[in-house]
Amino acid sequence: MRKMGLAVAPLALLAALVPSAVAARENPATTVEIEAGQPGAKIDRHIFGQFAEHLGTGIYGGVWVGPDSPIPNVRGIRSDVVAALKAIKVPDVRWPGGCFADEYHWRNGVGPHRRSTVNANWGGAIEPDTFGTDEYMDFLHQIGAEAYVSVNVGSGTLEEASDWMAYMTADQRSSAGADRAANGHAEPYAVKYVGLGNESWGCGGNMRPQYYTDLLKRYARFTRNYNPAQQGDTNPNAMQRIAVGPTDDDTSYTEGVMEAWSKRDWSWSIEGLSLHSYTVPHWPPSLPSVGFGEDDYASILETTLKMDQRIARHAAIMDKYDPDKKVALVVDEWGVWLAENPGSPKGFLQQQNSMRDAIVAALNFNIFARHADRVRMANIAQMVNVLQSLILTDGPKMVLTPTYYVHQMYLPFQDATFVPVKFDAGEYRHGQIKLPRIDAVAVKATDGKLYLSLVNLDPAASAEVKVTLPGGRFGKAAGQVLTAPNVNSVNTFEQPNTVTPRPIAGKLAGGVMTIDLPAKSVAMVALEH
Ligand code: AHR
Repeated sequence: MRKMGLAVAPLALLAALVPSAVAARENPATTVEIEAGQPGAKIDRHIFGQFAEHLGTGIYGGVWVGPDSPIPNVRGIRSDVVAALKAIKVPDVRWPGGCFADEYHWRNGVGPHRRSTVNANWGGAIEPDTFGTDEYMDFLHQIGAEAYVSVNVGSGTLEEASDWMAYMTADQRSSAGADRAANGHAEPYAVKYVGLGNESWGCGGNMRPQYYTDLLKRYARFTRNYNPAQQGDTNPNAMQRIAVGPTDDDTSYTEGVMEAWSKRDWSWSIEGLSLHSYTVPHWPPSLPSVGFGEDDYASILETTLKMDQRIARHAAIMDKYDPDKKVALVVDEWGVWLAENPGSPKGFLQQQNSMRDAIVAALNFNIFARHADRVRMANIAQMVNVLQSLILTDGPKMVLTPTYYVHQMYLPFQDATFVPVKFDAGEYRHGQIKLPRIDAVAVKATDGKLYLSLVNLDPAASAEVKVTLPGGRFGKAAGQVLTAPNVNSVNTFEQPNTVTPRPIAGKLAGGVMTIDLPAKSVAMVALEH
């Protein structure tokens, strides 16, 4: 349905009215049909997991300021960041890396005498090791998240990894458990997830899949969890072991690890296979995070949407070896990787976060939701101050990014049930790039309500969306929408509210909900009878 008045306006006039580098457009209405009678898989809340690496100011400054800091903190962990993360119910935090994990020696970071090292991967910064295992567990406790610890397979030993597990999970009759108690933590910690290496095909040791799978069998067996509350195969709290898996479209680790797993015996297993896949159109990352135009916008969205086919490709291989879908595909590094902020320390991976990146986050969540039967965990890279961050800090200042607000808006997706929708996505075209104009995913949330996520990728045209619910009438349709003056709009310390959600409501008539989605927007609408 076209609004004729605008359709005949001269293009130059429309361009002048839109405070963006792109001209306004008109598009027909989109019809979305919700098939509420055919629920799909449960969307595991762990697809909203975080990744926090010892990299730049991701930990030091971003999470840890030390107990003597003038920045308000609890036992050294900054309180503003904790409050922001608590509000979005972070399910888990992957730590300590990344590439850092494969050079991390955990004993340097426990007890009264910390040993500093050089963070060779990330700018050669000095790693003071003041934030170690006990501080990480305290941080998790403060935000209410579960542990996802990556052990050092690249440059550590199996004995070191197994000793670390004992430090975290064994009782005080063991020396490692007694060490933990001496450091002030009498009770064993829960370690819900353990990563057995990181990018072993690259920074984690550049291993052939066969070599890695041989190591994996030993690590999967001997990195034991001793916590009494986590024992037993059918225990929902049992630890999940996550193997290194593929990067992007390379299937060699998917094949290698899953084939080995299909031939396993009683002595080892895994519960997850990791996929690392960043939104980075060209390597090395060179696109700016601020001030970009529509060329970059369209190219980044096109790259992000490749995640869908990528997951399908790896999931098909997993189906071949694991038709019962026992092993989860864990997308434990994803997000936009852009050029570092000019003037920022090299290797700190500092970038701004824009309205465009919020759309990237929403599109990824929708893709993960569509693959919820296999993708049961994902961790955005990274939580604070690194890559596609949710939070930026500078000394005492903190600002929430557009990507943070998408996490907040998607809270109803946590542990919800996927509900199929039928819709004609339409087309947003820029130069040679053709993308869907609209994306839509519906869920039945744990609060019993139906929620609809709608994304308008078109940077210049609003979209009229008409939603029908077979056999049902709506009594109320309201939620939140995130949009901004431009696709490159950002939140800064000085102007923190440029990209923040605002209320949106649908109009109800004859069992149809009609909603106007602003250009370049993400909406989450609760549909009530
Ligand atoms: O997230 C930054 C880096 O990207 C991680 O350390 C590594 O695993 C990946 O290559």
